[in-house]
Amino acid sequence: MRSVLSLLPLAAFALAQQHQVAIKEDNIQPVRPLVQEAISLLGFGTWRLTDNTSEAVSWAIQTGYRHIDCAAAYGNEREVGEGIRDGLAKTGLSRDDLWITSKLWNDQHDPKKVEAAIDASIEKLGVGYLNLYLMHWSVAQNAIGLNYIDYLDTWEAMEDLVDKGKTHHIGVANFSPHEIKEVLKHSKSHPPQVHQMELHPYLQQADFVKWHQDHNIHVTAYSPFAGTNPVYGPGDDAPTPLLNNSVIKEIAKDRDCTPAQVAIMWGLTRGTSVIPKSSHKEYITENLYSLQCILEEEDLKKIHKLGKEHFRFNNPAASWGVPLYEDLEDSLGEHKEHS
Ligand SMILES: NC(=O)c1ccc[n+]([C@@H]2O[C@H](COP(=O)([O-])OP(=O)(O)OC[C@H]3O[C@@H](n4cnc5c(N)ncnc54)[C@H](OP(=O)(O)O)[C@@H]3O)[C@@H](O)[C@H]2O)c1
Ligand SMILES: *[C@@H]1O[C@H](CO)[C@@H](O)[C@H](O)[C@H]1NC(C)=O
Ligand SMILES: *[C@@H]1O[C@H](CO)[C@@H](O)[C@H](O)[C@H]1NC(C)=O
Repeated sequence: MRSVLSLLPLAAFALAQQHQVAIKEDNIQPVRPLVQEAISLLGFGTWRLTDNTSEAVSWAIQTGYRHIDCAAAYGNEREVGEGIRDGLAKTGLSRDDLWITSKLWNDQHDPKKVEAAIDASIEKLGVGYLNLYLMHWSVAQNAIGLNYIDYLDTWEAMEDLVDKGKTHHIGVANFSPHEIKEVLKHSKSHPPQVHQMELHPYLQQADFVKWHQDHNIHVTAYSPFAGTNPVYGPGDDAPTPLLNNSVIKEIAKDRDCTPAQVAIMWGLTRGTSVIPKSSHKEYITENLYSLQCILEEEDLKKIHKLGKEHFRFNNPAASWGVPLYEDLEDSLGEHKEHS
């Protein structure tokens, strides 16, 4: 049991070194490389943590997680913050030992509102500063309507947050290839260092992930268990629940792991950070110990084949009435190459 705890920072650091360096191409200003403050590749998700939120977050820290993924939109930052304080107290660690991410919600895209939004997240979480602040979606959305503010203007305001020391890094989530390229092209001095997106064996997005790695943008995989998050519902033509998929179960058996550990380690092996969420102590611990689930080349080949499903669970495009994920693999199973 002891070994994984010492393995965690080392493994994370080694992988971080491979995959996180300063962005150079198309950018004149030098950027602070992500590796100077390596993101711990296994993080803890907090979306839909409700009843015993602070217990779960505290337990995650006690178990060994050093990276917590939060968002204003999850509506639980205050409880997550209590969990962080409790976890730090119980482990004797300090704030600086953690990597804390939060996200700007769609109704705060007005450049005049961005600083107040991060201040609110920092205050609720009680963390002093963030390690990473993400634009949750490219979509500005409030009573005025949709996309009344250009995400590039929002991005410019987010760049100022780095200069003000409110967050060490900035990035985006759920952007299309065109949108991320636009941000990269128009950044003043802080290009996006992280892109968080839905990634699991049924939505592998290999071309898009590689494009980011080629441009030194670190990728974080959300919903690593595919449709397991109950908010996604069964879905009409959804594939077999990932953790019940016979290929995943077979690999888990061969490697003496659980299906959840296989799913997480597949993501870590690709060099992405992975942020599973659970409200249960046993799952939280099980997911941490995915670091001991070593996959072989043949396992990765089998999982690669599951990618033909191309199933995306998180797509509010229709309900919001905006195009999202343009030119990416979509839920109809079409695979579009990313150029
Ligand atoms: N940027 C974005 O737009 C965005 C979107 C989605 C998610 N995220 C982030 O990514 C995180 C993870 O994604 P997610 O919450 O959608 O889904 P997920 O982590 O893939 O799945 C969570 C579900 O899996 C269950 N589970 C956890 N560990 C398990 C295990 N070992 N065995 C069996 N079941 C297990 C959980 O159950 P219990 O909770 O009941 O234990 C929960 O129902 C989120 O919490 C959030 O931080 C970001
Ligand atoms: C949260 O509550 C559920 C249900 O009572 C329990 O099974 C789970 O272990 C609790 N989680 C933590 C981290 O205490
Ligand atoms: C998991 O698979 C078994 C058979 O392999 C099936 O009986 C069961 O209903 C499946 N469970 C879910 C949740 O899909």
